[in-house]
Amino acid sequence: MLRIGLLGCGRIGQVHARSIALNRQAELVAVADAIDDAALSLANEYGAQVRDADAICAAEDIDAILIGTPTDTHVDFILAAAKSGKAILCEKPFDLDTDRIKDCLAQLAPETVLMFGFQRRFDPHFGALKAQINQGAIGNVEMINLISRDPGAPPLSYIARSGGIFADMMIHDFDMARFLLNEEPVSVQAMGAALVDPAIGLAGDFDSATVQLQTASGKMCQISCSRRATYGYDQRVEVHGSKGGLQAKNQHENAVRLANADGYHDAPLMNFFLERYLPAYRAELDHFIDAVRNGAAPSPSGHDALRAQMLAEAAMRSAKTGETVLLKG
Ligand SMILES: NC(=O)c1ccc[n+]([C@@H]2O[C@H](COP(=O)([O-])OP(=O)(O)OC[C@H]3O[C@@H](n4cnc5c(N)ncnc54)[C@H](O)[C@@H]3O)[C@@H](O)[C@H]2O)c1
Repeated sequence: MLRIGLLGCGRIGQVHARSIALNRQAELVAVADAIDDAALSLANEYGAQVRDADAICAAEDIDAILIGTPTDTHVDFILAAAKSGKAILCEKPFDLDTDRIKDCLAQLAPETVLMFGFQRRFDPHFGALKAQINQGAIGNVEMINLISRDPGAPPLSYIARSGGIFADMMIHDFDMARFLLNEEPVSVQAMGAALVDPAIGLAGDFDSATVQLQTASGKMCQISCSRRATYGYDQRVEVHGSKGGLQAKNQHENAVRLANADGYHDAPLMNFFLERYLPAYRAELDHFIDAVRNGAAPSPSGHDALRAQMLAEAAMRSAKTGETVLLKG
């Protein structure tokens, strides 16, 4: 049984607590949150103890830590948990500063199990698409389109601490781009605007952004992100290859389609990430437990999270300066 401590009992912490409860090889021993009631409520729901976050990181009766606290706390908790030999599953993004990420990685013992919460890799639809690429179904991957639109913008207080649209939101697409291209993007061109809410622009961020990535061999990926889609959580992938194409379509609340005199009508899209990626979060945790117990390589790794953040930083620079930003492969 893998004994787990959970830091952060907010939106994503609650998802992880549920995944732990559903995995027979894991047990949620303790939870921590800066807000006592949040910790108590989750602890009561899953029969766990409430402890201080630092105590969980150092505890001898805990094998692994899940970090679901705000981004600016991740590095300190990773280092504290690694110090006492814990395996770590940390939420994205690693940190908003790539130098701090590199410094953190350099401090970790080579045997540290460190995985990051880019759950889209574990989505069954995107996973099936990736498997077809690997099987050669479309020949060589040449161009990818990723569309990623949230149903609505988060509160301004969240935006202010989020690191901006590229590090907070599009970081998932940067990870998907690397996952599907199977090569490092080395060129980043970005544009951004506040088309949804001028207050987001006044806060120094964008709510709408597009990015073009290119690898050293010329493969391209185009990403389109918006903080608002009136029709729900829009998550699509299209891959064009030398022998064909692959598409992963949106997921609807059900597969029923009504036809009448006004046309064809599908059920609404799944509302947001908590619903759309529920199976992915569960499979992500299963992989983490497999990595800890059976020595599978933890993936996405610390290096993956670093590369995603490098792309996010490059995109913000490009969007602000209008220049193409080049990265080393
Ligand atoms: N993978 C995903 O799809 C996904 C989705 C949402 C959020 N996230 C990431 O998860 C992290 C948390 O986001 P969220 O939306 O759950 O935020 P949230 O605000 O809903 O939850 C964070 C919780 O952490 C607690 N907290 C803050 N500082 C703490 C500390 N020092 N010690 C203990 N608890 C502390 C807060 O009280 C809060 O309950 C962020 O890094 C975010 O980027 C990932």
